[in-house]
Amino acid sequence: MTETSRPARPALSRRGLLFGAAAGTVGATLAATTASPAAAAAPPDAEDLVDLARTYPFYGTAEQAGIRTPPQRHIVFMTFDLVSPQRADLQHLLARWSAAAAQMMKGGAIGRIEPARPDAVGLDTGEALGLGPAALTVTFGLGPAVFSDRYGLAAQRPAGLRPLAPLPSDALKPEFSGGDLSVQACADDPQVAYHAVRDLARIARTTGTAATRFAVLGFGRASAGPGQTTPRNLFGYKDGTRNIRGDADFDRFVWIGDGPQGIRGGSYQVVRKIEMHIENWDTDRIGDQNAVFGRFKQSGAPLSGRDEFDTPDFALRDAAGAPVIPPASHVALAAPENNDGVKILRRSYNYTDGINALGQLDAGLLFISYQNDPAHFERIQARLGAADRLSEYVSHIGSAIFFVPPAAPEGSYIGAPLFA
Ligand code: HEM
Repeated sequence: MTETSRPARPALSRRGLLFGAAAGTVGATLAATTASPAAAAAPPDAEDLVDLARTYPFYGTAEQAGIRTPPQRHIVFMTFDLVSPQRADLQHLLARWSAAAAQMMKGGAIGRIEPARPDAVGLDTGEALGLGPAALTVTFGLGPAVFSDRYGLAAQRPAGLRPLAPLPSDALKPEFSGGDLSVQACADDPQVAYHAVRDLARIARTTGTAATRFAVLGFGRASAGPGQTTPRNLFGYKDGTRNIRGDADFDRFVWIGDGPQGIRGGSYQVVRKIEMHIENWDTDRIGDQNAVFGRFKQSGAPLSGRDEFDTPDFALRDAAGAPVIPPASHVALAAPENNDGVKILRRSYNYTDGINALGQLDAGLLFISYQNDPAHFERIQARLGAADRLSEYVSHIGSAIFFVPPAAPEGSYIGAPLFA
């Protein structure tokens, strides 16, 4: 089959709409795609749009935005260590962060960029001015150390919040792990996401409450929400095909269903920085790559089916009696059918840190999952462990866990009921 390529063409209309999961950085030229004729002919999904004028509310919803929200194109994720031992400082930081996030999610600045007095410092750093809200969501998480006697919050600790158990594939580095607070900023413009985290980090620093710990910049969503086409991870496979989508599964697996106000309606955020050994992967034969995932690369269909959304048939055998989907494939080990029905919401992003000391591509997946019990993540990851054919090509180099409180009503702030 001959390869065809289409000329690069910006798909941005006057209203700032951008089509398709393959759409790149807004405002820049859409990268040309080179694919087989079959793939090139696939029309963009009319529902899958980027709207730079889109806003999501920060206040007044049940849950924080950025979990159920259809994943935007970019993420900046940062964690912080608390440096002030004062409970009031923590409250003050969460209140200032909430007010600032609400303002930025509307597309606004968080204060004067150019103060009237020339010797004053601007309150907003200014680099998102004119870029629009770009569907920005800012999601805050509280790490295990927040719920300590130090802050008078030991009794408020959510039942599932604890450091994750050691897991088989851990190659964790302290510089990519841990944190007492997390900020997940997602937007359809990378500079809007970066601006949000930068200005929140500035508030943390200038109040002397928290110091930065680690950050990851993700440039392409690797999961899909309602109405979105399934994007691809850096191994070239569709990622997010069998993700949680419906309300019933959100209620059953994502939101914490019981507990006091301030806990109920929250969730647990598990973050893993997973390095992908791109050079090794790129030398692997396509038949083996498909066997690693249990899916076809181009269509995303399970090896037992023809279309992306066909339900995998783990019992199907070939003429020689071997399972068509290898039992050690990633999907066979992770699927709810083989984990007592347990599901997690994946909301991951591709990342790159450039080139490593060996001259290899330094890239991977910023895996983020939301679940109402961290044991659900541990269970799936423990099962994936060394058995997963994928584990030969990935290393888990970073790890963190946070409790994500429910949203705040207008006039309040994230986590306020915990201090009541
Ligand atoms: C770099 C690391 C990873 C890559 C490249 C990757 C890629 C994929 C791909 C391509 C699929 C199939 C499409 C889909 O249904 O979304 C998939 C499915 C899945 N993955 Fe991963 N994954 C990674 C890490 C993980 C981790 C750490 C977990 C959880 C511990 C996980 C859990 C799942 C689950 C639950 C499914 C759905 C299985 C099903 O229901 O069929 N993945 N992954």
